[in-house]
Amino acid sequence: MTERLVVASNRGPVSWQRGDDGGLEVAPSSGGLVTALGGALSDEDGTWVSLALGEADQEVAAANPGPFPVEAGDRSWRVRLLDVGDRYDPYYNEVANRLLWFTVHGLWGEPYEPRGEGWRDAWAAYTSVGEDVARAIVEAVGDDDGEVHLQDYHLCGSPRAVRAALPRARILHYLHTPWVGPSELRRLPDAVSEGVLAGLLGADVVAVSSPAWAAAFRRGAVQLLGAVADGDDLWFEGRRVSVASFVLGVDADALRTAADDPDVRAAGERIDAERDGRALLVRVDRTDLSKNVLRGLRAYELLLERHPEHRDRVWHYAILQPSRQGVEEYRVYLEACTAAADRIRDRFGERVLTFFVGDDYPAVLACYERYDVQLTTPVRDGTNLVAKEGPTLNQRDGVLVLSRDAGAADVLRDGALMVNAYDVEQQAEALHAALTMDADERRERAELLRRGAAQGAPHDWFANQRATLRAATTPRVERI
Ligand code: F6P
Repeated sequence: MTERLVVASNRGPVSWQRGDDGGLEVAPSSGGLVTALGGALSDEDGTWVSLALGEADQEVAAANPGPFPVEAGDRSWRVRLLDVGDRYDPYYNEVANRLLWFTVHGLWGEPYEPRGEGWRDAWAAYTSVGEDVARAIVEAVGDDDGEVHLQDYHLCGSPRAVRAALPRARILHYLHTPWVGPSELRRLPDAVSEGVLAGLLGADVVAVSSPAWAAAFRRGAVQLLGAVADGDDLWFEGRRVSVASFVLGVDADALRTAADDPDVRAAGERIDAERDGRALLVRVDRTDLSKNVLRGLRAYELLLERHPEHRDRVWHYAILQPSRQGVEEYRVYLEACTAAADRIRDRFGERVLTFFVGDDYPAVLACYERYDVQLTTPVRDGTNLVAKEGPTLNQRDGVLVLSRDAGAADVLRDGALMVNAYDVEQQAEALHAALTMDADERRERAELLRRGAAQGAPHDWFANQRATLRAATTPRVERI
C-alpha cells in the first residue's frame, strides 16, 4: 500500500505578491530546501503543507482553507497554506532564525550572547505553530496511515505531535542545517534544547545532509535526553529512531535549462564587458551571518594588499540575496559587509569589487558559467548547494575555494581548495593560489567538482529518504 504523502516546511514551493495592477501574483520560492524538494515533489501525488509568509500569502490562505493546486513555471503542486497570524514573527524570527539557527551554525558571540532572557513567549509561539502544522498534516493524511516528510529547524516539535495523533504514520524529519552536539545545544534554555530533540525523536528517521551532523545529533540526544545509542540508531521512549545522512546534490539538467535563457545570455554579455579580460572571482550567497561574507571580503582585501599584481587583473563580483532582515543581527551584519565593501573600493578603486545586494538570478547563472574562482566559505552550512551549482554550470575550469565546515565538503573536498572559515590569511593565500593555478590542475579539480556535485540529485535524494523510511518502519507495520 502506498500511504498518502505529505511534506511540510516553513517556506513552501511558491509565494504570492500583489502585482502593480493590484492582482495576486504567484512566484516560485528560492532557497536550498525549496530547490531540492520542489524538483523532487513536483511530479509526486502528495500535499505540501507550508506557512503563509506575507500578507498576500495570508489572503490566499484565507481563501483556501484546505489543500489546493498551484502552478509556477513548468511545475505544479498541491499546497495547504497555513496562516498562523501574529505567532509567525516570534516563531520564525525569534526561535527558528535566532535561537536555533545561531546555535546550529555556531554564531553566538560569547560571552555576551545568547542572553538567555525573553525566550519563553517566543518558545510558546514556536511550539503552538508546530502543533498547528501537525494538525494540518493529520488532516491532509485523512484516514490513511500517512507518509510524512517534515523539513528543517522551524518544525522540530511537529513529528512528536503527528506521532501522538497518528501512531502508525511513517515520519521522516529532514534537517537542512548543520547539527551540533551537547555542549553547543546547552547554550539554549533547557526547555528549548530538550523540546527540540524530543520533538524530532517523534519521527522514525531523523535525516541530515552530512554524517558529521548525524553523529552530533546522536551525541546530543544521548547526553541531553538520555536516549540510548544502538549503532546508528537511537532508542527513545520505547521507540527506535534511525539517524541517517543523505547527500544532496544538484539537478544539473534543470540548472542547464534555467541557464539557457535570453536573460542569462544578456547578463553574461554585461558581465563579460565589465570583466574586461580580468579574472572573475564570484560569491553567491544570502546575506546570512553563517555565510561568512565579512571574512570573505577581508580575505579579498588581504589578497589585494599582499599581492598587488592582482589589483588590475581581478574583479570580485559578490551577489547577495537579502535575507531575514526582520532579525536585528542580520541587519547589522549586512551594514558591516557593506562598509567593508566600501572600504575595499576606497582603497583599491571602484573596479575591483561589485557588491550587489538584491535578487538577480540571471546574473547568478551567468556568473556560474564564467567565473575563474568561486569563494564559498560558510562558518558552517548544512550542505551549501551554491558550492555545487557553480561547478555544475562553469565552463572555464573555475576553482572553488570552500570552507571545510560546509556539508558540501563531503563530496567536493578533493576538487576544491579547502579553507578554515575563520582564517582570513589562509583564505587570501587560497585566492592567490586559485588565481595562479595552472590549466592542468584547474581541469583536474573541475572534473572532480563536477562529479561530486552530481551525487544525490534531488529525485535520488528524496527517493533514498523514502526507501530509508520504509526500511526503518516496515517491521513495525508488519507486527500490527
Ligand atoms: O539551510 C536551511 C534553509 O532552509 C535552506 O534550505 C534555505 O536556503 C534557507 O534556509 C532559507 O531560509 P529562509 O526560508 O529563512 O529564507
